[in-house]
Amino acid sequence: MLKKRITLPYILVLLLAVLLVACGPNNAAPNDTDGGDEPAATDAPDDADTGDEADDEAAGGEVEVFSWWTGGGEAAGLEAMIEVFQAKHPDITFNNAAVAGGAGTNARAVLATRLQANDPPDSWQGHAGQELIGTYVAAGQLEPLNFLYEENGWLDVMPETLIPLISQDGNIYSVPVNIHRANVMWYNPTILEENGLEVPQSLDEWIVAMETLREAGMDAPLSMGEQWTAMHLMETVLLASLGTDAYNGLWNGETDWGSAEVTAALEDFQTVLSYTNSDASALSWQDAAQLVVDGDAAFNVMGDWAEGFFREIGMTPQEDYGWAPVPGTAGNFQFLSDSFVLPVGAPNREAAIAWLEVAGSIEGQDAFNPVKGSIPARSDADRSLYGEYLLSAMDDWASDTVVGSLAHGVVASDPWKSEIDTSLGLFLGSGDVAAFQEGLVNACNTAGACQ
Ligand code: GAL
Repeated sequence: MLKKRITLPYILVLLLAVLLVACGPNNAAPNDTDGGDEPAATDAPDDADTGDEADDEAAGGEVEVFSWWTGGGEAAGLEAMIEVFQAKHPDITFNNAAVAGGAGTNARAVLATRLQANDPPDSWQGHAGQELIGTYVAAGQLEPLNFLYEENGWLDVMPETLIPLISQDGNIYSVPVNIHRANVMWYNPTILEENGLEVPQSLDEWIVAMETLREAGMDAPLSMGEQWTAMHLMETVLLASLGTDAYNGLWNGETDWGSAEVTAALEDFQTVLSYTNSDASALSWQDAAQLVVDGDAAFNVMGDWAEGFFREIGMTPQEDYGWAPVPGTAGNFQFLSDSFVLPVGAPNREAAIAWLEVAGSIEGQDAFNPVKGSIPARSDADRSLYGEYLLSAMDDWASDTVVGSLAHGVVASDPWKSEIDTSLGLFLGSGDVAAFQEGLVNACNTAGACQ
């Protein structure tokens, strides 16, 4: 009788044990050192889960992918890539864990909390550059992905400029899905024409144009949104005012943040800011971009995800919106790159690898980027899929001088950026350039970049 009572559960437990072992150590929590207590372990088929079989092994289960792409072109781009993923892996449930908020301001805080609690998503979106290397790699939170680069031949198709920004000590830590341009000025062609204005080419011309529009009754010719968009505007004006070398020098210690040229650049920023809307802090980047196509503002400075947004809301390029490098920055491509990572202890590691393979693939990138408003990181994209703006961005990426973005993680570590942000917040309230500059000097010193 006793024998009869335990037979069925016993079989079930055995089956469960075999299943668990077959899933392998990849599913173990990072601190899970107490595994291996299943006698059935030695019977597990442990010779079948390498190489190309990773895709097949990923069959079933789920993958949780974290980003901040929840609206306005961004969500649509992500959806397009998810479709490619689901077509390849119909039996993996895609858990889209995007947290709303432009530039990841909210999402990154949520992610930090999860990482602290040892609860990583299977993959997340991180910016190439200091954000990736100085934060996640420095904390030992990521697995190197060299094996994926080798298996997929990605080193032959990913830009040489990008690899060092996602690598440390010979290890590559992410899969870039795109290249975005930060220094784009979007404008309303009708407003410029009606006011007899050419597209401004220099900071001075831009200010004259904005003054003309103001005199014609437009209070805020330049639309802006919440604080990160002010940092975005600031980095483009710094580049315009300082020029390429001095701008780069801000991040490698060669430009003195306390110098007269930086004072002049901050004064330029202050002048440009004086043409922005007073309700900026209450607006998302989409709200601010919308003001331009609605004719309530003439200009908006935003990364080219704004192109994805304009298309998403049915706007026609060159009619409803035009574009140009932020005045004074032509010839520079101020860039950032969205990339996906594999955390140490990914709950569904094989499914995460399957996601990364799609993110790095030509199909994935050519589905995502035309909708997202970015150019593919890969150099072998199908140009016929891209609109006029993105084709021009591809050409500029190939020929311009490439510099990095501050607001989107390329040039400064998170703590440094956050100190800059604090000073910026004070400056937006006070308008005190001297105090702002002092804050920026201190931020650079604290970051150890200016010693
Ligand atoms: C950036 C990100 C872009 C876009 C933008 C606005 O940081 O790299 O992909 O999402 O924020 O949300």
